[in-house]
Amino acid sequence: MGPARTVADVGIEALAVHVPRHYLDVGDLARANGVDPGKYCFGLGCRRMAVLAPDEDPVVLAVRAATALFERYDIDPASVGMVVVGTESGVDAAKPIATYVHRMAGLPRDCRTFDVQHACYGGTAGLRMATGWVLGGLRPGRKALVIATDVARYEIGSPGEPTQGAAAVAMLVGDEPRVLRLEPYAEAVHTEEVMDFWRPTYRATALADGHHSIECYLRALEGCWSGFTAESGLGLGAFDYLLYHSPFPKMAFKAHKRLYEVATNGGAGFDPDYERRVLPTLWSNTEVGNAYSASLYVSLAGLLEHSEVDAAGKRVGLFSYGSGCCAEFIAARVGDDASAWRGRTGLRQVLAARREITHESYLRFRQAHEELARDGSFRTPLAPEGVAFCGTWNHQRVYRDATWPAAVTSARPGDACPPSDVLRPASRPVRVQAGE
Ligand code: CAA
Repeated sequence: MGPARTVADVGIEALAVHVPRHYLDVGDLARANGVDPGKYCFGLGCRRMAVLAPDEDPVVLAVRAATALFERYDIDPASVGMVVVGTESGVDAAKPIATYVHRMAGLPRDCRTFDVQHACYGGTAGLRMATGWVLGGLRPGRKALVIATDVARYEIGSPGEPTQGAAAVAMLVGDEPRVLRLEPYAEAVHTEEVMDFWRPTYRATALADGHHSIECYLRALEGCWSGFTAESGLGLGAFDYLLYHSPFPKMAFKAHKRLYEVATNGGAGFDPDYERRVLPTLWSNTEVGNAYSASLYVSLAGLLEHSEVDAAGKRVGLFSYGSGCCAEFIAARVGDDASAWRGRTGLRQVLAARREITHESYLRFRQAHEELARDGSFRTPLAPEGVAFCGTWNHQRVYRDATWPAAVTSARPGDACPPSDVLRPASRPVRVQAGE
């Protein structure tokens, strides 16, 4: 028997990001809503929000993040033994997104698949389950694929609208954590039943008691931090960077302010500290908006791909918050060799490949999604290549992917997709370039 492994040996081996092909400038949204752009851009810290085209959904984002992960890191999909999808944008109350990912990413049959839902905490819950599974050691050599995928959608004109966004982050979890090693401190978690943000199953848009949600977030942060610091003996100064769940970037500012006050007994020097240890983690969030369970990992990708930051070997603190609520503070160490992630997460490529849309197009895209979810027709105009959401048929979601017959995969924009009963079992992995 080999030596017992510890949490110190487990973490993220590879990480890839996928975002929708379009974005809306939040200033344009403010002008359309008759709001001073300063409120959205400076008051909330938002800049751009990712908008789903009609042929994109949380499944498509997840599959594209997964296939980008396999390609960019040259990972054999056969090495995956478990797929966990953290999401609060579930497209079905029973069938998990993980099963769609399993087929479209060409994963092996001897693989466990499931979704985890706890608002924005789902991705972190998946990460923790995956690390526990790796440590359990019952599938030696196999890796866990954890994907956080979400679409943040609020009512038009509501206070949450400027904070919308979407993204998926795929992470390979195993015992060679070249990207991020989780440090073996006792868990620092906080749960409290609160009604701060929710989406009943009959609604496509979320509801929030906004100011209450901010207070719940900050209370959970204090709860996690007091547990963490008591157990670990580490102070805030032990961290090179702090990543806070970012429903809107100003929330990370508020979070760090609260923690800084608690940790330093209201000490001076907050502003430069925020600029040094938090600001470098937020640029990617300002590009995509809130991505719920993926937001924290969009921040992580942003830090890793920051052009002026060398994160190699640095200790980071990650605060994950899911409304309802459950939160966790995690200490982790970035890998020592930046070539393991630099330029490989796909973050910069997918952001650079996006197109800006007008407020009118944003409204049209939203309406298309509402109609697709409602009437089950096949009217989705398709992007020329790659995995795409075609629409619904017989109450099933239908996707175009590489396992479809050639005549279907070459469908032109506007062509109808056939129903999913023509689908064949996956015979080979989908190969999709990030940034298409
Ligand atoms: N110029 C500059 N700043 C301005 C301004 C102007 N013209 N007008 C207002 N502001 C400032 C305000 O002073 C305020 O700043 P502070 O917070 O520093 O005081 C900021 O802009 C926002 O103004 P309001 O508080 O008046 O904004 P609001 O009430 O209309 O909406 C919100 C803000 C409640 C966060 C809303 O966006 C919302 O409900 N969002 C969804 C819920 C959410 O994200 N909650 C976060 C915690 S829960 C969580 O984290 C889970 C999750 O992902 C959802």
